[in-house]
Amino acid sequence: MKITVVGTGYVGLVTGTCLAETGNEVICVDIDAEKVKQMQSGIVPIYEPHLDVIFDRNIKAGRLTFTTSLDEGLDHGEIIFLALPTPEDEDGSADLRYVLGVSEEIGKKIKSYKVIVDKSTVPVGTAEKVRATIAKNASCDFDVVSNPEFLREGFAVDDFLKPERIVVGSSSEKATALMQKLYKPFVRSGNPIIIMDEKSAELTKYASNSFLATKITFMNEIANYCEAVGADVDKVRVGMGTDSRIGKRFLFPGIGYGGSCFPKDVKALQKAGRDSNYEFKILDSVIRVNEGQKIILLPKIDAHFKGDLKGKKIAIWGLAFKPETDDIREAPSLYLMKGLLERGASLQVFDPEAMPNIQKRFGNTLDYASGMYEALDGADALLICTEWSIFRTPNLVKVKQLLQQPVIFDGRNLYDTNDMQEAGFNYVSIGRTE
Ligand code: UGA
Repeated sequence: MKITVVGTGYVGLVTGTCLAETGNEVICVDIDAEKVKQMQSGIVPIYEPHLDVIFDRNIKAGRLTFTTSLDEGLDHGEIIFLALPTPEDEDGSADLRYVLGVSEEIGKKIKSYKVIVDKSTVPVGTAEKVRATIAKNASCDFDVVSNPEFLREGFAVDDFLKPERIVVGSSSEKATALMQKLYKPFVRSGNPIIIMDEKSAELTKYASNSFLATKITFMNEIANYCEAVGADVDKVRVGMGTDSRIGKRFLFPGIGYGGSCFPKDVKALQKAGRDSNYEFKILDSVIRVNEGQKIILLPKIDAHFKGDLKGKKIAIWGLAFKPETDDIREAPSLYLMKGLLERGASLQVFDPEAMPNIQKRFGNTLDYASGMYEALDGADALLICTEWSIFRTPNLVKVKQLLQQPVIFDGRNLYDTNDMQEAGFNYVSIGRTE
């Protein structure tokens, strides 16, 4: 099939590349000429495991091309994916400027039947707005469907190629049939393509992300309570997670959820509720608890250094909001670093992928280490913010030698508390007895 993807951010790029992989002819459109040039020369502009291999393969096969021309894209595709940013507005709602701007252009430019697919995370009612915007100028037939994306950064290729489910919101049989044809190769395992109305599809995305954020936040509160009563959240987590109604996943406590999705989507659903005179009380709490959770280690660090961090050197392992990404948006590390810098500490940091992004934001206020052990050199304590695999089995003898004091603040519960005690560390983690 002929496919056009407008917007080559994270979702658009993965969508376009993976759709080319099943034999479709895909054109990706982006207004950023520099980025388009980069992609045309075979460079993937984001870090996402396995994407480079299929990106390269499909460019070479001529199935994946890039352009800055929306006209060219609209002439090509029978299905037009909108994978445009929906940034957080000042009031927390999703800003539809880009989605509706491109819709306006689509209305003016399409010359034959098209299915316009909302892939971006958009508030309930957006498909209706997109349809109305296109209809103002359109001189031919078209349909708008909502097809929310459930990709996780770091696992996006696998999530796209082997989805647990595909949600399509559509009120047109013709458009539904085209979407089913497009996605058939991805659900050979029998996983469902769930067809529903557009509004329900739009809400499915927000409800899923908000539920997962709530699940994590609930566990973070249980972890905090564990500390108050001397229980161990790891044991509670396993005890709870083996109930299949609860499930094992997304029960890992830590220093709060971050990233470009959960924080934005939870706030957008809360705001959308308010706009419809519905107060999501549960989301108000989730947002509040998560704000506190991101800096939950600061009082513990303060207590250890008796409130005086001036001139102390803290090593940090992990800056990205989670492993396998260079994304630092809403990363808990940002909030912890800010707090530590304000207290007069100096920071020696290391992350396997996110260093360039951190450097852009923090400039020369941090010391950038060339490796995980280099970050420890002469530091008064180690703080762990992201659970990259390489941090899971460090050489503890070396860690102890390099640190001035054997102190670890672990925001991701990477190590066994007994092992750490035996190795002679003062080890502080989340929701576990020290
Ligand atoms: C999330 C959803 O998982 C995807 O299904 C969705 O498509 C995506 O948002 C999106 O809307 O685009 P992502 O933000 O890439 O994906 O990352 P997750 O792996 O879900 O992690 C989100 C945050 O929750 C991270 O900060 C992570 O550290 C935290 N988390 C996750 C925990 O603190 N505990 C857990 O048990 C799981």
